[in-house]
Amino acid sequence: MSLETMFEVAGKSVIVTGAAYGLGRAYAEVMAERGANVTLIDLNEDQLARTLAEIDAQGWRGQVRGALVDVTDRAALAQAFDEAAAQQDGVDVVFSNAGVDAGPGFLTPEGARNPEGQIDALDDAHWDKVIGVNLTSMYNTMKLAARHMKAQGRGGSIIATSSIAAFYVDGIVGTPYMPAKAGVSHLVKQLAMELGKFQIRVNAICPGPFITNIAGGRMANVEDRQAFIRWSCLGRVAETDEIKPLALYLASGASAYVTGSQMVIDGGLILRPAQEVA
Ligand SMILES: NC(=O)c1ccc[n+]([C@@H]2O[C@H](COP(=O)([O-])OP(=O)(O)OC[C@H]3O[C@@H](n4cnc5c(N)ncnc54)[C@H](O)[C@@H]3O)[C@@H](O)[C@H]2O)c1
Repeated sequence: MSLETMFEVAGKSVIVTGAAYGLGRAYAEVMAERGANVTLIDLNEDQLARTLAEIDAQGWRGQVRGALVDVTDRAALAQAFDEAAAQQDGVDVVFSNAGVDAGPGFLTPEGARNPEGQIDALDDAHWDKVIGVNLTSMYNTMKLAARHMKAQGRGGSIIATSSIAAFYVDGIVGTPYMPAKAGVSHLVKQLAMELGKFQIRVNAICPGPFITNIAGGRMANVEDRQAFIRWSCLGRVAETDEIKPLALYLASGASAYVTGSQMVIDGGLILRPAQEVA
């Protein structure tokens, strides 16, 4: 089989959650560019419309459509999956990606204690929100993906955006973010074990710092990204386009024997020495 054929996704039916901005948009772009038909799910109406129009204007082979849905709303998400399946001839690839930041951690980037990020000050509603979007909605999305793919009987690829936060602890990231992403990575492994029999592959992408809109676009701010630049082996943070080759690999037959994996893409940031805790 030629390499071109291995990386083929043309004609596949793809769903991406959290697709209006950032990594989700990059996933949607690479899929449409390579000829897949893509449903972009997001709750940000204006940005979703802008992103759809901008992708459309590229004239790529794949068709794109939008679904204005909050991924924590199970009924609305199920309906969006049904509609995508009806319009795109099933569901072959699902990027479970929508996520939010968790606010400041218990340390500032300079290493000082940050009162509002400490466990005894954490707002319970904030905990519930972050776990709800970053973990429970991943369960919602992957469950629907599995349901459609099993019923079709033609396999599929589920790709969850986890984080390097799944593997280490970090004082400057809001505490609820860490167990949410550890949960996503573990759920991916569990589902890979269960769904392999149906030729449904389940993998995680575990990014380090990418310049997106998360945390109010913090990474776009040169001062805010200094700590991450220091910690990265490559001395920089990443652009969203840099996620595209990995997304294409996991979505296509090029990764036919890959399931349950945790694909770290972080400029070596995870190798940094442990943080000093003030
Ligand atoms: N950017 C990074 O450095 C980085 C690092 C590791 C992991 N991640 C993960 O990548 C994923 C994408 O984040 P990003 O950095 O591209 O952020 P982003 O803010 O640029 O994009 C996230 C998108 O998800 C949408 N969204 C948020 N909550 C939603 C909900 N309840 N329902 C539907 N849509 C929702 C937002 O409207 C937005 O369009 C997240 O799961 C995040 O945790 C990001």
